[in-house]
Parts: sequence; structure tokens; C-alpha cells
Amino acid sequence: MVTFDHEHVPLAIVEALEADGVAVYPGSAALQFAQDKAAMRTRLADAGFPVPRWQVVQTSDEVDAFDTPWPKVLKASKGGYDGKGVWIVDSLEQAADVMSHDLGPGAVWMVEEMVDFRQEIAVQVARSPHGQAVAYPPVRTVQVDGICVEVVAPAEPTSVSSAQAEALALGIAKELGVIGMLAVELFDTDAGLVINELAMRPHNSGHWSIEGAYTSQFENHLRAVLDWPLGDPRPRQHRAVMVNILGGPIADLHVAFKHVMARDPGLKIHLYGKEVRLGRKVGHVTALGDDEGELLDRARHAADYFQGVIDE
Ligand SMILES: Nc1ncnc2c1ncn2[C@@H]1O[C@H](COP(=O)(O)OP(=O)(O)OP(=O)(O)O)[C@@H](O)[C@H]1O
Ligand SMILES: [Mg+2]
Repeated sequence: MVTFDHEHVPLAIVEALEADGVAVYPGSAALQFAQDKAAMRTRLADAGFPVPRWQVVQTSDEVDAFDTPWPKVLKASKGGYDGKGVWIVDSLEQAADVMSHDLGPGAVWMVEEMVDFRQEIAVQVARSPHGQAVAYPPVRTVQVDGICVEVVAPAEPTSVSSAQAEALALGIAKELGVIGMLAVELFDTDAGLVINELAMRPHNSGHWSIEGAYTSQFENHLRAVLDWPLGDPRPRQHRAVMVNILGGPIADLHVAFKHVMARDPGLKIHLYGKEVRLGRKVGHVTALGDDEGELLDRARHAADYFQGVIDE
């Protein structure tokens, strides 16, 4: 059995393993929909799930003709992450400028309506080969320039109940036959939930679960692919917040680490050991407790220190 924790494992490798009789989770039949946003939108819409208005386009004139108001969202169907591959364009000229860039291999241009959301939420699901599945409670994710900067867990959607959001994510996992973790990124709008995208792996929006849930998304991913009984996804405390550490001017994060731990021993700090580059996700901070505002203040303070924004 093979599993992996990376979005862009080439589908051909997964298919070749499957052809050799190796169980690969997630399998190629499901994984294609996490790797190709156009295939994902088509498949989910066909199955009756709510997606934004969208269309494949080849020219900026087609973007102009796409019948939604500016700004519109241009996307590369494949190869994107952390907002790379997503452009918000205000005019035909801006669309033409974006589309003068090369698309990656096998990718097409997509135009989408700019969804007017109240908040972005995500729901994580773990699903095993014999079909057992559990959902984590919905969380609120905050993106700046296409990068997730913070997560509050749990967070009730405004348009539907948490149970309905969980049912939607469980329904997608079942429909696509996902094995392992699935993260469903959603727009919470006046008209209900609309699906943004899917990730078939432990996901940034679920990192809070390492300390914040009875079973972390990493443990449940392994339990799921092994076809073991799944662990309890419920939160251990009223609220968890997770703030990402993005690369800043400080190259050696370990000096900052000691300072942050000494200042606020209640925080849980994760550094990924990656080379620090500007804006790259290099770690995260989690705080558990009751008061969302207080937890956010503490976790943001720590992230700001790592990012060189503050020095005390
Ligand atoms: N149609 C849309 N309307 C409004 N905002 C959008 C739309 N599509 C994307 N966005 C914004 O851009 C962000 C990044 O988009 P998306 O999740 O498609 O990109 P990505 O680079 O694949 O992200 P990830 O890092 O999650 O893989 C979204 O979280 C959202 O804030
Ligand atoms: Mg996304």
C-alpha cells in the first residue's frame, strides 16, 4: 500500500502503481479531481454539487464575454498552490496580460465568477476503503493574497448548519471514492455553500487538529488508508486557532523559537525545517482555549515575531 502527502504527485505514477496491483490511496480515479480544477468543477457539477459559475477559455475576449461582472477570477486548471495560478482581473487588458504567461503542461485557462462570500470555510473528512467516514467540524480559513494565513476551529457557517457542511464534504468523499483525508474548501455565501476546491491529503486548514482534536488529521489519514477504525475528530477544547508562519527576514527561526516559547509557554509551535523564503509557509502556531480574540492575538503575536514584523 502506498500513500503520500503531496498535491502534485504525477497521476501517471499513481496509475502505473495501480496497474502493477499496488493499492494507492488516494487512488488516481479520485486524485485527478484534486489536481485538475476544470475536471473537478465538471465532475462535481454533474453530481449536483454547488460550484461557482465558470468556463474554460482560450482568449481574453472570451473572458470579457463571460457573463459575470468584473472583477473575474482567472485560474490555471493545474499546477497551482498558495494562490499561484489564481489571478483576479479587472479588465480585458489585465486578462490579456495574465494570459500571456505560459500555462503548465496539460493545463487550460478557466474563468470564474468572483464569488461574494461572507467567509471561507473548510471541512476535513477521513474515509477508509470499506467506506467508514468521519468529518471534522467546519473551520474558518482566512486567505491573504491567495495564501492561508489563519484558521479558527470550529467555525459555524452562516448560510447552513455545521452538520450540513459536514454532510456536503462526506457526500463528496463518497461520490469520488476518496480514501484518506479530503479537505473541501468552501465559500459561505448568502445563497449557501459553494465549493472552491478539493485537497486529498492532510491539509493546512486541518493543522489545528494536531493538538486541537482527539485525533489529528495525520493520524486519521493513516488509520483511513490502513482501513483501521477511524479516530474521534471532535475538538478537545472550545476553540483552536492556527496561524501560519510565512518566511520573512529572519533566516534562523530557532533563535526566535526559544524567545516565543519562553514568552508564551501555552502555544504549540511547529517549524517545518524548510529553507526560509519570503512568503513561504515555514511553520505554524496553534493556541487552544475559549476566547477566539485572545487566542488569535497570542498566535498572531508569535507568528509576527518569527516573521520579523515585531521584535519583542
Ligand atoms: N471564484 C472565486 N471567487 C472569489 N475568490 C476566489 C475564487 N477563487 C479563488 N478565490 C480566492 O483565492 C484563494 C486561492 O484560490 P484556490 O484555492 O483556487 O487556489 P490554490 O492556489 O489552488 O490554493 P491552495 O493553496 O488552497 O491549493 C481562495 O482561497 C480564495 O480566497
Ligand atoms: Mg485553495
